[in-house]
Amino acid sequence: MTVHFIGAGPGAPDLITLRGHDLIARCPVCLYAGSLVPAALLDHCPPDARIVNTAPLTLDEIIAIITEAHQMGQDVARLHSGDLSIWSAMGEQLRRLKAIGIPFSITPGVPSFAAAAAAIGAELTLPEIAQSLVLTRTPGRASSMPRGESLAAFATTGATLAIHLSVHNLAQVVRDLTPHYGGDCPVAVIWRASWPDQRIVRATLGTIVAAAADGPERTAIILVGPVLDSEDFAESSLYAPGYDRRFRPASADSIFIGKP
Ligand SMILES: C[S@@+](CC[C@H](N)C(=O)[O-])C[C@H]1O[C@@H](n2cnc3c(N)ncnc32)[C@H](O)[C@@H]1O
Repeated sequence: MTVHFIGAGPGAPDLITLRGHDLIARCPVCLYAGSLVPAALLDHCPPDARIVNTAPLTLDEIIAIITEAHQMGQDVARLHSGDLSIWSAMGEQLRRLKAIGIPFSITPGVPSFAAAAAAIGAELTLPEIAQSLVLTRTPGRASSMPRGESLAAFATTGATLAIHLSVHNLAQVVRDLTPHYGGDCPVAVIWRASWPDQRIVRATLGTIVAAAADGPERTAIILVGPVLDSEDFAESSLYAPGYDRRFRPASADSIFIGKP
């Protein structure tokens, strides 16, 4: 028996991996985080599967259901939105499973920041503009931020920011970032990327609060940084004709000739 943690993707039911899909289809028990996992994914469960929405449950109750499945020798598909490596609460479940000796596997998913970037047609790292992407959030009712992880601290790098769990706090985000990025810095707020009711507002740090004023207070990514409206960036060396590289030696003298 194994608990299969599966990244369910950002919302569109076809944005799940083939592996995740196949695991759902063969697990007799499916636990899903009902607030953001699309219900259509549950159609892949076997007809007689036990399907449980964990949104109203405590960690103890979730582990009790997994333990029961373990005793019955039943594999469990455990679905969380997006990818499992960020804000999934997988870590605390893994710790419990390790402590009681229940095996698990992890299948990554498409994270919501990637769906948000796709929705606005943007690459978030561009040559000489930004080569780093910070996945972060602002403090919430249940989560404080560790020392040193303030928006202002990240802003000093000038990197592209993908701010999660914070659209209700947009005015404070703007106050924290404006001294570093300037009021003209482009911002995009993408609600429910890849869902049928996806919504996008593009503005600047100076105008985004007014522009997004009538937007929902949850399930959005705030993207900030000069990459969002840069058109005059340099081309990467990767595809430049004269650039010597392992996969395309530039001349007979290339250091890559004869290398595997
Ligand atoms: C609990 S976190 C889950 C993050 C998820 N594990 C991921 O990989 O994106 C929930 C937050 O992710 C973001 N989010 C999740 N799905 C989203 C979507 N489809 N569009 C925009 N933001 C989304 C929002 O910031 C939301 O408040």
